[in-house]
Amino acid sequence: MLKKLKAPLAILAELSHRCPLSCAYCSNPVELVEKNKELDTDDWLRVIDEAADLGIHQIHFSGGEPTARKDLEQMVEHAHKRKLYTNLITSAVLLSRERLEKLKKLGLEHVQVSFQDSEKENANRIGNFKGGHEKKLEVAKWVRELGMPLTINAVMHRQNLHHLEDMIKMSVDLDADRLEVANVQYYGWALKNRAAFMPTKDQLESSMEIVEKARKDLKGILVIDYVLPDYYAKRPKSCMGGWGRQFLNISPEGKVLPCHAAETIKSFNFDNVKDKSLAWIWENSEPFNKFRGTDWMPSPCKTCDRREIDWGGCRCQALALTGDIGAVDPTCEFSPLHEKIFGSATEESSSEAPEFIYRLLSNKEVEPVKK
Ligand code: SF4
Ligand code: FES
Repeated sequence: MLKKLKAPLAILAELSHRCPLSCAYCSNPVELVEKNKELDTDDWLRVIDEAADLGIHQIHFSGGEPTARKDLEQMVEHAHKRKLYTNLITSAVLLSRERLEKLKKLGLEHVQVSFQDSEKENANRIGNFKGGHEKKLEVAKWVRELGMPLTINAVMHRQNLHHLEDMIKMSVDLDADRLEVANVQYYGWALKNRAAFMPTKDQLESSMEIVEKARKDLKGILVIDYVLPDYYAKRPKSCMGGWGRQFLNISPEGKVLPCHAAETIKSFNFDNVKDKSLAWIWENSEPFNKFRGTDWMPSPCKTCDRREIDWGGCRCQALALTGDIGAVDPTCEFSPLHEKIFGSATEESSSEAPEFIYRLLSNKEVEPVKK
């Protein structure tokens, strides 16, 4: 039982960094966890028990590509038995209909499929996976045929924002419940490709108009989530709902992290589920406590009236852009670096987009799992 803190709402279980795609905007760490270092089935089943005992309500099975794990079925079944709401976050290209059906029977309650574009050629170029888009469309249809709610995750940037209206239409045609218009976040591998993805201000303004109109037109049909990309915002987002407040992530090798990009923070030793219980880590782990609440905040966050709204923005972004994890998030207009960052975004977006640098996956040993 926790003494001082509320339990987290949800856990993101990154089952594996293996992935058949190599999207140039991948937010996974530059150095990926190899297959032989991944937690084994028993470890994950124990973690699911600990999450349920801690009072967590939802588990998101993610990666990399979670369907690359052949024991996904066991985890879904166990999580469902322990009354956790189960969501599969997938690129979908490894799934067969039989396997999806089986996962549904075992307790899978929701599926989120990522799309790289609405237009096949561009989508497959961005994900660097031939035939991927066609397979995703097929899987999205299966999800609805099997009666599960469907979320489409669309990662948008300068090389596909001109298809935003088509993406919305595609989501309606697929009978999705929700569309997440996710602007690229520049951590991990994505930071290497920032210039290839940075949209122009005009692109963003027109995308906001498109989303606003679609939200009105599609009320009751499709929910659209959209957050202005950080580099063009005046105030930062409340990253993860505040550090160590609502969520925890578990990396494929068992490190417990406050967010998906925290492994970019080399100065922290993150506790591992192999050594400590989730409850202990949530309450006592040094990295979690370091930026909880408002006491750690620098000026002007300390006295700002948004300090309990955005919780000081994003620590990973502060580190990536300033080299100081405790700095004001530079996407905030009160950061001394805000103008500089905005200037570099404008400059990058107005130059010709460079070629993508794809991840060369040494651990790309994934194969379709039949059932
Ligand atoms: Fe948020 Fe700090 Fe900026 Fe205030 S000063 S808006 S708390 S980042
Ligand atoms: Fe790590 Fe925002 S992604 S705090």
